[in-house]
Amino acid sequence: MGQDLTRNKLKKYLTKRIVVDPSSFKKEDLQEAVDLIRMGEVIAFPTETVYGLGADATNSAAIDKIYEAKNRPSDNPLIVHVADSRMLEKCVIDVPQTAYALIKEFWPGPLTLVLKRSGYISEKVTKGMETVAIRSPSHPIAQKLIELCQKPIAAPSANLSGRPSPTEATHVLEDLDGRIPLVIDGGKTTVGLESTVISMVTETPILLRPGGITKEQLLKVLPDLEVTRDETIQKLSPGTRYPHYAPNKELVLLIEFDNARQIDEVLKKESRPFLLLCANPSHRHTVQTVLLGNSLAEIQRNLFNNLRKIDHLPVEKAFVEEVDQTNEGLAIMNRLRKAASRTLKPAVK
Ligand code: TXA
Ligand code: MG
Repeated sequence: MGQDLTRNKLKKYLTKRIVVDPSSFKKEDLQEAVDLIRMGEVIAFPTETVYGLGADATNSAAIDKIYEAKNRPSDNPLIVHVADSRMLEKCVIDVPQTAYALIKEFWPGPLTLVLKRSGYISEKVTKGMETVAIRSPSHPIAQKLIELCQKPIAAPSANLSGRPSPTEATHVLEDLDGRIPLVIDGGKTTVGLESTVISMVTETPILLRPGGITKEQLLKVLPDLEVTRDETIQKLSPGTRYPHYAPNKELVLLIEFDNARQIDEVLKKESRPFLLLCANPSHRHTVQTVLLGNSLAEIQRNLFNNLRKIDHLPVEKAFVEEVDQTNEGLAIMNRLRKAASRTLKPAVK
């Protein structure tokens, strides 16, 4: 279950929200954000995946403020955002050819590469690791922000640690109002969940976190990509050890059910008010239902918003249907497994 939101009572700032249209804006619209980052402050901004909580990746004092604002465990390193491969080359050493092949295909975009770090990035970002996780976001506001700051920007997702990642400025304010000076409101993000993370420092590249670029897309460029067990991943990527994405109410993940009727049979026995998040548009349920989307891409785009909805509706718990683990489904199921308090299978007959 989610954490106690009374933690959100730290009120240090009167948080300002600046609305910026990603398809038509001027660099002056971002000036206040740029000034704050240059002064060593932390601000929230949109990327194509989720909103990020950004600070100058070369400024240790600024990085400390990210951890404080989102209550992030201190051993969980951050992703660094760069404008392009030129900025990347300041931050890392020994970039393998395979990494350049991925960059050519997927940057700017939702793909994060773990590479050997140089001394340029603050050690507060990498938390004692010899590596750094880096990506170049495709969102026009994120791109312009990095370009204007002329610095790599370290940014985790702009939520309180453990909560669903924010895909709208309202979500950022739900979690961080009073804890940061500014949020740039660029509307809803398009991908809807975080970037894919790949380790490029292991013998063969390893998928550390499924995300905005699918495994199927990656395999075309990287046929030897290793998709490994959770225990191996947890050793390589600190963030995967922590609870994540959870609503504050109980969430039960329904797996291996054959049809809607079978699910309804189980839910009819539930005495407390609940909600069903339905992942299959052809399912016709007889209980109170929210349809997660008509395609995997749509389910992905709205997933975190739907998880946050559970907390706003007058229900005591929620159930969610599983999806196939192909294409976007792998990342969706990864997030649902982490968000759920438990899984439920059909009773054996
Ligand atoms: O889409 C995204 O990736 C978003 C937006 C804002 O860019 N960012 C994001 O950051 O999701 P965060 O901090 O919520 O997730 C970063 C993940 C964590 O699981 C962390 O442990 C892992 O990347 N990570 C960071 N540095 C690493 C490293 N050097 N080696 C392995 N894993 C690393
Ligand atoms: Mg996060």
